[in-house]
Amino acid sequence: MFPFHQHTRLCCALLLAVVLVAPADAAARRQPANAAIAAAHPLAVAAGEEILASGGNAFDAAVAVSAALAVVEPYASGLGGGGFWLLHLAKSDRDVFVDGREVAPAAATPGMYLDAAGNPVAGLSLDGPLAAGIPGEPAALVHIASRYGRLPLARSLAPAIRLAEEGVPAHVRMTLGLRFRRQVAEKSPAFMATFYPGGAIPAEGAVIRQPELAATLHRLATKGFDGFYRGETAERLVAGVRAAGGIWAPEDLAGYRVREREPLRGSYRGTTLVSAPLPSAGGVGLVQMLNILAGYDLGALDGAARKHLLIEAMRRAYRDRSIYLGDPDFVAVPVEQLVHPFYAAGLRSSIRLDRATPSASLAAIDTDGSDGRDTTHFSIIDAAGNRVGGTLSINTWYGATFMPPGTGVVLNNEMDDFTVKAGTANWFELVGAGANAIAPGKRMLSSMSPTFLESTRGVAVVGTPGGSRIISMVLLATLQWLDGADAATMVSLKRFHHQYEPDVVTYEDGAFTPGELAALEARGHRLQRSERNYGNMNVVTWDFATGRVEAGMDPRGRVVGQVY
Ligand code: GLY
Repeated sequence: MFPFHQHTRLCCALLLAVVLVAPADAAARRQPANAAIAAAHPLAVAAGEEILASGGNAFDAAVAVSAALAVVEPYASGLGGGGFWLLHLAKSDRDVFVDGREVAPAAATPGMYLDAAGNPVAGLSLDGPLAAGIPGEPAALVHIASRYGRLPLARSLAPAIRLAEEGVPAHVRMTLGLRFRRQVAEKSPAFMATFYPGGAIPAEGAVIRQPELAATLHRLATKGFDGFYRGETAERLVAGVRAAGGIWAPEDLAGYRVREREPLRGSYRGTTLVSAPLPSAGGVGLVQMLNILAGYDLGALDGAARKHLLIEAMRRAYRDRSIYLGDPDFVAVPVEQLVHPFYAAGLRSSIRLDRATPSASLAAIDTDGSDGRDTTHFSIIDAAGNRVGGTLSINTWYGATFMPPGTGVVLNNEMDDFTVKAGTANWFELVGAGANAIAPGKRMLSSMSPTFLESTRGVAVVGTPGGSRIISMVLLATLQWLDGADAATMVSLKRFHHQYEPDVVTYEDGAFTPGELAALEARGHRLQRSERNYGNMNVVTWDFATGRVEAGMDPRGRVVGQVY
């Protein structure tokens, strides 16, 4: 195991090596003569590079990157969680959305996190095994490798197994999360033994080995689906969950299925957007917001007016998210209506250029019914033009902060993404209604939004962690790309966000000029500067005219004392 800074240098060198420039020929579409990977940790990039160098394609690399992220970012995603992988198959010019989202266990009930008075019990949907949905990531990796990869699953998982066996250096995001989750972690001896060696938060650079995770990955590598969802691993998962008060059953694991879905498409100013369909709210929200904005000449407006309109579009799309969206296998969602330009025209008619619309003045929700340290996103383009945008999650930092003994697997707390009680905010301050109520086998609504942007200029693979803010971040990056920005600019852009409720615009320092702040306030917006920057966007772009492929990694995503 060589020191982390050497890894970092090596990976940066690899990354530079894969970004290339083909001779310019504006008339032709230049194939990317090489590949690029943007991910939240240099060791995950290196894992993907290793697999590409072994003859793998973007899909094999996506499996390798996803599994490596489980080891190096155990606070953000992993085998105990789920995710969405948006694939583009260059040969057949086809897009596929692989839905590996967690599902509620069979014993789940709509009121499972409420007390006798019908109020949410603090922490119940966030801490410990009762908060965990049935994981989808292992099944998705098996699915992607067998259906779209060139290499055996065992080859693509090899880098992650090696990292888990040999250990990885603790980094600042890892240790900050451990500080934050210490109290909850103390209830899980296996979690404590793995991440608090000797009972203490590890020093930065201390090597964290995860031998039990390596063994679990090895069983997945050799036995595929059954290596996780049946047999030894499944038995340990269920026993560990039940012994600590959870409700998983063996049938929940054996019955888990990946879904392939048709991506959601939209178009805006000559660019096609291919994004996440339900059970992600991302695609619907992005298309709605772009449809609303299509009615304005944004380029002709001053900064404050332009940003005011973006905020008003966000407000309306996030409101619809709260009311209508849920797992399409369980509830009828009027997607066609929501993404129709006529519907957007109706929403637009309620927008005033001179005034913010108070969220409370929009029709109320029928109550019948982060930031970027959790979750992770990577983007890949290979030399054949295959693409993957993967957004993976165990929900909040270290998920449920619970590890079933003998598995090395950190369980998710995605059950909090369901509507625990109609009209009551979740961790991300999102409110919901009946469409996203808990039901056995149902997928909880997500904001994860891996997205492709396609135009005559080229292609961008975009995505980020950030909970409810994911969708507004992808919107802002999309508009930047349309204005000609490169990958580095897209990921660095200062961000602002509105999600209907709470009725406030949160913004990063620098997102608005002093004049824009004053003008927005004068329109009636409530503005709140975010205490810290948010998101960890990873973008890869391919310029058709030059063949140039660029990777942009969010400067906010520091894992050591330098930007990565
Ligand atoms: N767990 C965050 C999301 O899926 O939106």
